[in-house]
Amino acid sequence: MSTQTTASNSPVVLITGALTGIGRATAIAFAQEGARVVVSGRRDAEGQALATELRTLGAEAEFIQADVRHEEEVRQLVDHTVERFGRLDVAVNNAGTEGQPGPIVDQTAETYAATFDTNVLGVLLSLKHELRVMAGQKSGSIVNISSTFGRIGAPGASVYVASKHAVEGLTKSAALEGAPYGVRVNVVAPGPVETGMLNRFAGSEEVKAFLVDQIPLKRVGRPEEIAAAVVFVASAKASFISGESIAVNGGKSAL
Ligand SMILES: NC(=O)c1ccc[n+]([C@@H]2O[C@H](COP(=O)([O-])OP(=O)(O)OC[C@H]3O[C@@H](n4cnc5c(N)ncnc54)[C@H](OP(=O)(O)O)[C@@H]3O)[C@@H](O)[C@H]2O)c1
Repeated sequence: MSTQTTASNSPVVLITGALTGIGRATAIAFAQEGARVVVSGRRDAEGQALATELRTLGAEAEFIQADVRHEEEVRQLVDHTVERFGRLDVAVNNAGTEGQPGPIVDQTAETYAATFDTNVLGVLLSLKHELRVMAGQKSGSIVNISSTFGRIGAPGASVYVASKHAVEGLTKSAALEGAPYGVRVNVVAPGPVETGMLNRFAGSEEVKAFLVDQIPLKRVGRPEEIAAAVVFVASAKASFISGESIAVNGGKSAL
């Protein structure tokens, strides 16, 4: 594993929900690319530990605590990032929750809010403050993490499915609003990935095996495989891609 020392002109990358799973793998991938990385999440001790780990890879890294459901925390997350590093080049809106899966007849206003407050309001607030800075800079790239369930329905997961469809819609509109300022906004849409969320979602090895059986490559993804797609979409190599949703799902889109 190569390490690099970050320079003052290295891209500044902000990742929400960065302390576990896909967010954590994405933070490590950007650090290995030589970026300056701000990791954000709700748990201070884990966040500080991740920032320390990123520094051992040679990256300049900070942890800033924020719950994406609360606008003042999101505003401060973005503003402190800019105060610390002078700019914001890439934002990865990854924080998400599976909520409380179950049939529609069991859903309530509370289960709806518990999912939508993080997955939809959290992305909206993040976009609002990231675009505020990036429009001023006249540059930037935002990657929202959706899901295969941002494109198709799933019995027993209606609220999560609806929230990820909303992320796809927010992304298209944000891409159009960002375009005049040279800001790109895209989605990376993972299929099942080996993280705590997948294990909570599946609930048992039997359900997980069923999910794997639906995937042409006959395995779940690794967080690093999603991170690699995020790094690409965020980078100048994808400079003509905006308003797009990139599926990373082991061939499931081909079914
Ligand atoms: N794993 C999959 O199969 C899969 C498939 C498609 C899409 N996704 C999406 O990928 C993203 C990352 O999920 P993951 O699989 O890596 O699961 P994960 O390990 O559970 O990661 C989710 C992260 O989001 C954080 N988070 C949740 N609510 C938050 C809030 N209100 N404010 C700030 N942070 C919050 C969590 O922190 P706490 O510990 O504080 O809750 C956690 O670190 C999510 O958007 C998810 O919907 C995952």
